[in-house]
Amino acid sequence: MGDVAGAVLIDAAREAARNAHAPYSRFGVGAALLLEDGAIIPGTNFENASYGLSLCAETVALAAANVAGRLRDVVAIGIVGGRITPGGLAGADPVRPCGRCRQILNEAAQLGGRDIVIHCASGDGGAVERHLLSELLPFAFGPDDLGLS
Ligand code: THU
Repeated sequence: MGDVAGAVLIDAAREAARNAHAPYSRFGVGAALLLEDGAIIPGTNFENASYGLSLCAETVALAAANVAGRLRDVVAIGIVGGRITPGGLAGADPVRPCGRCRQILNEAAQLGGRDIVIHCASGDGGAVERHLLSELLPFAFGPDDLGLS
């Protein structure tokens, strides 16, 4: 997974973040999943007046992949986030997936029998990191551990 694919995913994530529903945190996040056939599935954060029911961009994208029957086909994800400004997203720190999203990414990773590449970008676009899910969530618990197959 080269930098070109990462840049494409981050661009798609930034586009998705334009539809962030984040009136409470004012922190917009976009995510874009890359599937093994090249398809891209976007997601954006979806907050709620109850605050605690808010959904992260990564989780929204993964749920959409599942609706399409494609959870096991996820090979990579791009994530970008930052403070919402009139011109887009601001902030110099790359956004890395929260603990819950890492666990949900692991569901896709174990179903697909592969590690997932995670490209994380800052709102201002100046910082980009490339990780593997296995680095961000070592010793993960997942479907493989249930002994169902
Ligand atoms: N958020 C995401 O969507 N993904 C992350 O990886 C980090 C946090 C969202 C949740 C909430 O809507 C806002 O960012 C502030 O935490």
